Amino acid sequence: MNKIDAQKRIKKLREVLELHRYAYYVLDSPEISDGAYDTLQRELESIEEVYPELITPDSPTQRVGAKPLDKFEKVSHGEAMLSIIDAFEKNEIRDWETRIQKFVPSEKIDYYCEMKLDGLAIALIYKKGILTQAATRGDGRVGENVTSNIKTIQSIPLKLRIPSAKELKNIGLDKTQSDTVLEIIAKRGIEIRGEALILKKTFEKLNQELVKSGKQELANPRNAAAGSIRQLDSRVMASRKLDFFVYKIVTDFGQIRHEQEHELARLLGFKIVKENKFCGSLEKVIAFHSDREKNRDKMPYECDGVVVAVDKVELQNIMGSIGKSPRWMVAYKFASPEAITIVENIKIQIGRTGRLTPVAVLKPVKLAGVTISHATLHNQDEIDRLDVRIGDTVIIGRAGDVIPDVKSVIKKLRNGRERKFKIPTTCPMCDGVVEQKEGEVDHYCVSSDCVAVRRRALAHFVSRRAFNIEGLGPKIIDQLMDENLISDSADIFELEIGELLELERFGKKSAENLISSIEEKKKVDLSKFIFALGIRHVGEETAILLAQEFRNIESIKQASLESLEKINDIGGVVAESIIDWFGNKKNINLIDRMLSSGVEIKKRKSGSGTDQRFLNQSFVLTGTLESLTRDEAKDKIRELGGSIVSSVSKKLDYVIAGKNPGSKLDKAQELKIKILSEEEFKKLII
Ligand code: IVH
Repeated sequence: MNKIDAQKRIKKLREVLELHRYAYYVLDSPEISDGAYDTLQRELESIEEVYPELITPDSPTQRVGAKPLDKFEKVSHGEAMLSIIDAFEKNEIRDWETRIQKFVPSEKIDYYCEMKLDGLAIALIYKKGILTQAATRGDGRVGENVTSNIKTIQSIPLKLRIPSAKELKNIGLDKTQSDTVLEIIAKRGIEIRGEALILKKTFEKLNQELVKSGKQELANPRNAAAGSIRQLDSRVMASRKLDFFVYKIVTDFGQIRHEQEHELARLLGFKIVKENKFCGSLEKVIAFHSDREKNRDKMPYECDGVVVAVDKVELQNIMGSIGKSPRWMVAYKFASPEAITIVENIKIQIGRTGRLTPVAVLKPVKLAGVTISHATLHNQDEIDRLDVRIGDTVIIGRAGDVIPDVKSVIKKLRNGRERKFKIPTTCPMCDGVVEQKEGEVDHYCVSSDCVAVRRRALAHFVSRRAFNIEGLGPKIIDQLMDENLISDSADIFELEIGELLELERFGKKSAENLISSIEEKKKVDLSKFIFALGIRHVGEETAILLAQEFRNIESIKQASLESLEKINDIGGVVAESIIDWFGNKKNINLIDRMLSSGVEIKKRKSGSGTDQRFLNQSFVLTGTLESLTRDEAKDKIRELGGSIVSSVSKKLDYVIAGKNPGSKLDKAQELKIKILSEEEFKKLII
């Protein structure tokens, strides 16, 4: 193809791809298959490869950068990114109206109500219609340039759509306003702000994948979105599949009403929140709020309230702002199971992979009927975002029904004696070096000698899904470590009765019992052995995949990066972590010591392999099973080639529902997933 033909073909391909991107990601109504879309995208890539001079910044191939950045540049905001005052009760919102009415005594105030999305504020700048910069809020005046990451968000246009005269008229713009809009797009620049977030269903899928590869689950969609945007490698961000919804057009195009900013954003090719609503009175606002609160779970995004804005721009300008917040806007929050307490201390917990998690030690308080004395703070980013300090009065809530976390700080209650907290640069347990990889939010103690890491690693090693050594709980592990009888997993198999007898709490019987239960478990499945090793990012599912693929430990030791990456479901990060682990002499030595003290890795049963009736099928278990344990059911499914996942999605094949099933059953019914009773499941596995 010569250059002229290439140019023509590129233009056509870009137009078609753009059309389908818009249909799929913005309108949510795809017109062609994913496969067809990918084929067109690949064709474009291959032509651009031959003629790199024809690449433009708005080409669909330019969404994901090739190289990770070293750091994010700082950028200042032309107009500060403000925050919104909160209201929790009806009377607070009524008081607010009384206050603002005083600024415009003879005007009727109309409102535009928006969902308060729980993501991250992003400011986009388009010059001559092309996306040139995306920045985080930062401190409101200066944020970080995250353009390369934001470009990976498929619902953000790289090039603005040009609205027709009729469309502009339909949203109430007159000739002058319409001309201004077209001029801003084509010749000048426009700044658009909105919220970058992860949709609930995308978040669930993401977590399923993380669990599968043995990684820590993300606490909530907000945290996941924030963590993704902080990644220096836009390829990681692309894999997180964020979304973007506009809530403001900063540039003056003569807008008369706030709602017009949303409508114009839609015409420019953005997604806007379809629940947003014009309300002609405060009573309508209150009704809208209560309706949304009731239907909160049905919306595809996490939101924690309704942002109520005075609709008329003229009135907004008269009201102005106070401090860092506009007077004409209020976030009318939804009620949530929350409690107020005091952060008495912040401690560091060290996981088995060495990850440092800051945990708030709370003055005990009841939350939804349970006494809570600890809440996770996730990481330094979250501490900074909340600006939580030791001594602060905080609101705690439950994230996704499980781990309590700190939602916000009541800063007005500070007395000046609160202390800031920074994750230490050395490990509080072993004084070893603490590292944070560029672009990652988590800190790790990288010392292999860290007592805390070793304690957790040992507890994991003997746990039920790993070596399953009964009678060797965390307390006994601590005791054996304190007495210097064990310091790593191989030591467990070298323990002798005589040594135990000398310990407090050990009698002849209990010592014998422990030694014999260790002895009993020396024969172990390859997958359980691998899982027990506690390799970072290698969870149970990955361990099973490795065992299936390599069949013995020697082959895994020698596996190359390529051979690991070839395995479905094992990504680059996991593969590298495996190579790292086996590349460490100490670890090889550990395995050798275990094998020489009698640990025997069972040959994979030929049974698993022949009958693969559940091949490529996935299962979720919910509720209690009566005739077999959950673990037995899981083992059986895996033996027959199936896999276990933790949450219900469209891709799931079966839900096995026992007694008292949880919300997973409702979700499965909603998604029309096949549901099996215990009896039906048993029939399938005979
Ligand atoms: S308007 C004056 N509209 O809430 C503030 N913000 O507390 C201008 N947010 O940083 C923002 N949904 O990240 C606005 N519909 C919405 C919003 C929204 C979520 C976030 C945004 C902002 C924060 C302010």
